[in-house]
Amino acid sequence: MKIQAIQGFKDILPGESVCWQHIERIARDVFHRFGFSEIRLPMMEETELFARSIGQATDIVEKEMYTFADKGITLRPEATASLLRAFIEHSLHLLQPVQKLYTIGPMFRHERPQKGRLRQFHQLDAEIIGAEEPEVDAELIAMADMIVAELGIRTSLEINSLGCPVCRPAFRQQLVAYLRRYTNELCPDCRRRTGSNPLRVLDCKNPNCRKLVADSPSILDFLCPDCGSHFEAVGRSLERLEVDFTVNRFMVRGLDYYTRTTFEFIAADLGAQSAVGAGGRYDGLIEQLGGPPLSGIGFALGMERLVLLMQQRITARFAPPVRLDVFVAALGREAAGHSQVLVHHLRRQGLKAAMDHGGRSLKAQLKQAGRFDARYALIIGDNELERKSAVLRNMTDQQQTPFPLNLDAAEESRRLALLIQPTD
Ligand code: HAM
Repeated sequence: MKIQAIQGFKDILPGESVCWQHIERIARDVFHRFGFSEIRLPMMEETELFARSIGQATDIVEKEMYTFADKGITLRPEATASLLRAFIEHSLHLLQPVQKLYTIGPMFRHERPQKGRLRQFHQLDAEIIGAEEPEVDAELIAMADMIVAELGIRTSLEINSLGCPVCRPAFRQQLVAYLRRYTNELCPDCRRRTGSNPLRVLDCKNPNCRKLVADSPSILDFLCPDCGSHFEAVGRSLERLEVDFTVNRFMVRGLDYYTRTTFEFIAADLGAQSAVGAGGRYDGLIEQLGGPPLSGIGFALGMERLVLLMQQRITARFAPPVRLDVFVAALGREAAGHSQVLVHHLRRQGLKAAMDHGGRSLKAQLKQAGRFDARYALIIGDNELERKSAVLRNMTDQQQTPFPLNLDAAEESRRLALLIQPTD
């Protein structure tokens, strides 16, 4: 029986990983420019952590988690809860009043796989803990915007406010009253949600539900003065930073911990799974998880969706993962022995070097050098070894020059490194 990867779990092949590395490089670079530090977290946590943060009545906790029920542990469906657990456990707030942290890695949700939706997917996650000013919301959103822009991806940004425990209950009450008038017309999921999680009805994809909620009360009309002025200040600050956005009052998030600002980066080209990234503020959550009363805000960008959107993906797929500086083509036993030591020293000199150990013909080896996109080929046969002169071929213009050998591989490698200079 052929064993294959399980549904919703995907291999990232060598050609594709070039694109992933590029995304990670850009993201880390932007994170560091904004003063973020990396935190690496375990992939499993106590199930209770997710139930208490993401929310018992959310789709994620209700039906999408990979849980080992007998052990009470779960593969993380997102990074925020784990990051806050670590923040609290190690009292990181004592190190700095405002902590800016990021983490990159796989998350697990048992959803129905489709384009841009997997069961193991990867997030670039960033969180700012200990700052409640609206300017911080704007700065964080601007950072996500910068990552996406530097990857050459076009998105539109939508923002909303979900209020706070002071103002949201009144909205929720009005919304439930409104939805109850249309119970029979709502889809079965929304009928259930009206009781358990009514805000989720607002972003139901069912066309009929969408039509029904078009005239529902707006959360923005219910914001308390503090939440209202916070939301306005976020908008003003985004304008100052020249980040375009639209307000979408129907945007609610699939996680219960949000307060005030929420946002999503949408890419039209993605089809149904159109959110490239999303996040929001979660004041109160850290305290709720047993930590100090600090506010927080963060986002996560979905890496699979970024990869899908990157134009470079087409070429990256077939590009060699590393471009070699030099391929040593050895012909004959003696030459192969010397070449192995030479290649080792070339790598010590910082050059990307390789050779073939299969005793193949010169033609076959040069073909291999071409497949690696090598800049140079160094041809060493037993005859060349005897004459103490190899042939250095520039693979771009096919020019050949003699390269003197003295059978001291370390010295030869230093000379060759000076001649062809390592690439990054
Ligand atoms: P989320 O909206 O659940 O938020 O996920 C963020 C992003 O992860 C999505 O916009 C999407 O790009 C990607 N994503 C989610 N599920 C999948 C999937 N099944 N397959 C592929 N990509 C997926 C969170 O996870 C929050 N923790 C974000 C956050 C951080 N809020 C505050 N801090």
